[in-house]
Amino acid sequence: MDLPIEIKKYIENELNVIEKNKLYDKAKTISKNYRTNEGKGKKLLKNYDEAIAYAISRMPATFGAVYNSLKSSLEIYNPTIKTIADIGAGTGSATIAVNELLNVENIECFEREETMQNVGRMIFEHYDNLSKKVKWNKIDICNDEIKEKYDLVISSYMLNEISDEKKENIIEKMWKTTGKILLIVEPGTMQGYKNIINAKTKLIELGGYIIAPCKSNQCKLAENDWCNFSCRVQRTKVHRELKDGDAPYEDEKYMYIAVSKEKIDNNDKKRILRHPMIHSGFVKLKVCDDEKIEEITITKKDKEKFKIARKSKSGDLI
Ligand SMILES: C[S@@+](CC[C@H](N)C(=O)[O-])C[C@H]1O[C@@H](n2cnc3c(N)ncnc32)[C@H](O)[C@@H]1O
Repeated sequence: MDLPIEIKKYIENELNVIEKNKLYDKAKTISKNYRTNEGKGKKLLKNYDEAIAYAISRMPATFGAVYNSLKSSLEIYNPTIKTIADIGAGTGSATIAVNELLNVENIECFEREETMQNVGRMIFEHYDNLSKKVKWNKIDICNDEIKEKYDLVISSYMLNEISDEKKENIIEKMWKTTGKILLIVEPGTMQGYKNIINAKTKLIELGGYIIAPCKSNQCKLAENDWCNFSCRVQRTKVHRELKDGDAPYEDEKYMYIAVSKEKIDNNDKKRILRHPMIHSGFVKLKVCDDEKIEEITITKKDKEKFKIARKSKSGDLI
C-alpha cells in the first residue's frame, strides 16, 4: 500500500528543499544510525534536514508497514474507534495510515522532536483536512505521562529508539493509555522481532488479549529464529536515487503486535509466516496456529484453497 498520491507529490516536490547531495548523505546517515543504534536510547533525528530526509526516504515504507498491520488487526477485531494516539509520531506515517483506514475526527500525535512535528504539520496541511483532525503534543514518553485514554494507541518504529532498560516501562505507559487496542509496529529485524515478543509477553502479563499476528500466547519459533512480514511500496525517482536502487519498488520488512483490552473471539485460521513457495501444482506454506508451527502443502486438487494459497503472502491468514 502506498502513501496517498497528494502526500507523495508534496513530499517529493515541495518539501524536498534540500540540495541533492546533502539529502543523499542525510538519508544514508539515518539508515546507518537505525541499523547500528537499535535499543541504545540515542536521539537519531534531530535537525530539520534530517526530518525532511526521513520523510522522503522512510515515510513510504513505515506508512506501508502500519497500514498493513492495522488492516490485518481490524480484519480480526474491529471495535468502534473514535479517539487515537500516535506515540513517537515522527512525521506522521501512522496517523496517515489510520486516516486511510478509519473514519476518525480526532487524532493526537505525541512526539519529542519539534523538527519532526513541524515537518509532520506541513505534510498534514496537504492532505484530507488532516491538520484540522490532528493535535500535536510535545512529549518525551520516557519522562512524561499521557493522562487521557484513547480507543486506539499506535507506536510505530519508536521502541527501537528507546533504551532497553526503559522499554518495559514505556509499554506499560502505552497500555495504561489504551482504551481498546494497542498496536506496536517495529522494523522486521531480529531486534525488532525481540522488541515485539517482549512487548507481547508484558502485555499478556498486564491482562491483554492478542489480536494479531500471533496465534499463540507463547511463540513456538526456535530460540534463534524469528518472523517478520513484508510490504511492497512503489519508489519514485528521488527515492530510487536515495536508496541506490533501480527497482521501481522496495520491500519493507516489519513486525507488529496488536493487543486488545477486551477478550476477542478466536478464529481457526493459520498465519502464513514466510513468503509462499509456489510450484506448479502445489504451494508450500510455513504457518503458525495456537499449537505449532508447521509446513503445509496445498495441491491443485484442492481447487479453492490452491487459488487462495497462490495469491497469498506472508502475514496473511489462511
Ligand atoms: C523512526 S521514527 C518513527 C516515526 C513514525 N512513527 C513512523 O513510523 O514513521 C521514531 C520517532 O520516535 C520519536 N521518539 C523517540 N523517542 C521518543 C520519546 N522518548 N518520546 C517521544 N518520541 C520519541 C523520534 O523523535 C522519532 O520521531
